[in-house]
Formats: sequence, C-alpha cells, structure tokens
Amino acid sequence: MPKLSIDDLHLSGQRVLVRVDFNVPLNDDRTVADDTRIRAALPTIQKIIADGGKAILMSHLGRPKGEAKPELSLQPVAAYLGGLLGQPVQFPGATIGAAVEDAVAQLGDGEVLLLENTRYHAGETKNDDTLAAELGKLADVFVNDAFGTAHRAHASTEGITKHVELAAMGYLVAKEVTYLSRLLGSPEAPFVAVLGGAKVSDKIGIIENLLPTVDQLLIGGAMSYTFLKALGHDVGTSLVEDDKLDVAKALYETADGKLLLPTDHIAADAFSNDATTAVSDGSIPDGMMGLDIGPQSIAAYQAAIASAKTVVWNGPMGVFEMPTFAKGTLAIAQALADVTAGGALTVVGGGDSVAAVTQMGYEDRVSHVSTGGGAMLEFLEGQTLPGIAALSDA
Ligand code: 3PG
Repeated sequence: MPKLSIDDLHLSGQRVLVRVDFNVPLNDDRTVADDTRIRAALPTIQKIIADGGKAILMSHLGRPKGEAKPELSLQPVAAYLGGLLGQPVQFPGATIGAAVEDAVAQLGDGEVLLLENTRYHAGETKNDDTLAAELGKLADVFVNDAFGTAHRAHASTEGITKHVELAAMGYLVAKEVTYLSRLLGSPEAPFVAVLGGAKVSDKIGIIENLLPTVDQLLIGGAMSYTFLKALGHDVGTSLVEDDKLDVAKALYETADGKLLLPTDHIAADAFSNDATTAVSDGSIPDGMMGLDIGPQSIAAYQAAIASAKTVVWNGPMGVFEMPTFAKGTLAIAQALADVTAGGALTVVGGGDSVAAVTQMGYEDRVSHVSTGGGAMLEFLEGQTLPGIAALSDA
C-alpha cells in the first residue's frame, strides 16, 4: 500500500515532527566527520521551512543505552545543520519534557529545532508507548525521513505514529524506497549483485532473496573464505565462519553457477597495512590470510559489472580501511561509475562501499547511494521495515 508523502501534508504553521537519521560519525573533538546523512535530510527540512512549518527534528546517535552520555549528544549536529541551512537550529538540550514543550511552543514558522538524542531514554529502543506519547505532544503531523533507522521499531520511528493523526514519508525515505524497489520485482537484466564484508551470516537473507532474479552474484571480502573453505579450498588463516560452512555450501549449490567467488587474493602474513603480501591463486598458503581480492578477480568482476544493466553493491571486497587492501573495493566503485555512465541503474549501500564511492568522488556517478546499512539489507531481504509500514496509507 503506498504511503502518505510529505507533499500530501499541509505544513504551514504546523508543528512538523521529523524523525531523521543523524547517527553520523563524529571526530575526537566531536565535530561531524561525515555529513552524508545530514545532507540527505536537507530536502525535507527545507520543504518545511519553505512552507512555513515548524521543523522539530529528532534522531538517535550511537547506542547510549538509555543513559545521557555527553559524548553522544546531538548538540554538535545541531550546530553543523545550522551551518548547512544558513539559519540557527535551536537545541533545547533534552528530548522530552516541559523545557522542550516550551521551546516548541515558542518556535516560529520556518524555524528549526533539534531534540536531544532519543536513545538517552531507555524507552526509545523498547518502543515504549509513554515515550512515544511524550514525543507525540510535540507534533501536529509526523514525517519519517530516517531511512537508515526504518528497520527499527522504536518509539521515535514506529510508536510515535500511534500518537499523531498523520504520519508521512519524507523525501529521503521516498527516494530510498523508489530506488531499492527497482532492485526487487523485475530489475532490468543483466542484474549483478556485488556482496562483500566479513560475514556470510549477515548476507544469507539478501542472497536468498536476490538469487531468483540476479544473473550474477559476485562475492568478496572475508565472507568469500567461508565459501571457499566450504568448497574445499585452502584458506590459510583467513577469517572463516566455521559454523556457516554448511549454509555457504548450500547457497553455492542453490545458486547453480550464478555465484562467483574470487579466484585470486592479496594474501598477507599479518592483519596489518604493513604486512608482507603476495598475490595467491585459489589456495592461500598456511600462515597467510586473504585480505583483498586479487587482480584476476578484479578483472573478472569488472567485466561482469560492465555488461550489467542493473547493479547493487553492499560490502567491501577487502579490508578497505587499510590502503594496502583497498584496491578491490575501489575497483568495484570504478566499475559502478563506468557502467552508470553507460546507462545502467546502480545502487550502493553499506559503510565501506559508500566510503569507497565517496573517496573517489563518485557520489554523483552512481544512480543512488543509500543512507541505510542494515535498513537497506533488510529491505532487499524482502522484509517489511516497521518505520515505513507504520506510516499513514496514501
Ligand atoms: C545505522 O547507522 O545503521 C542506523 O542509524 C541504525 O543504527 P542502529 O544499528 O544503532 O540501530
């Protein structure tokens, strides 16, 4: 059922409570280290300002587990957002309560306020109805624009919808749903999925859900070693999920030739950027661990991507944070940018994959960079995201 959009709401003079995902990395001096998620919420915030609504923003930051941890305050984010908007963002320093209600009552049309970290309250992650009702007091209407948190049924994402008359999608959530939906159903063929990261266990659901429609599934990252070990290859001291060998073997067999594994590796004698490395073929010698895909695998994966009409990518091909082992991941980012220029639909999500695209300055050279890690995976697993399901029907 299509959901109500912010465009369907009357915003002028209204208190518009917006759930955003400002769970952004901070530097040691508590300045914003990556503003991607803040920028992604700007169209919704600017629409409320332009229409003369009162924008009351709320988000979590990190996992303070119900405690008011000062290092996880959203105060620096409020200041940063004010800079982006070119107008002050009020910060009452609390999430709920009398002081917040007063600040909201005094908020003028077109003004913006950011509440303190919703996870300072234990009720947030428990989807506590009392907390949701307190938040509901601040709103005439509710907009969810926090795609990255849409897979959590929390008080500020799901519970809140029971305490407002209208709950709509913001522009970011709408955009994410539009792009990710194009990967499900009938994506234009050839459809290639590139999956990486440490664990097979994180990717079982998405592999199973994509297998019927995907033409090729390219596997990289440490999860490849679980597959390779399950198929009888020597993997040295590479990271392996030994309790997932059977699952990996079964997935490989079900894939019936669609699942490609790396055929060579950058093997290292230690988990260090300065380790001694060697290119190894299919087998990794004793005492060495695979930390990136090798040149032959890069060429094969780039060729598969080059012939695709639809590509989805989630997860690094190697230990991306160490430059010595980042080549495979950067090569995939390059391949996606190239095939996008040729007219393919390309979607990227997940911390390291997005970081690779950003590092190369390619954010605008792929079709869509998702702001969701877990949320994107759950969407592509075919699961219902509670933060979206709870919104008012259109
Ligand atoms: C994320 O960063 O994936 C979202 O903000 C959700 O955060 P969480 O995993 O702590 O719920």
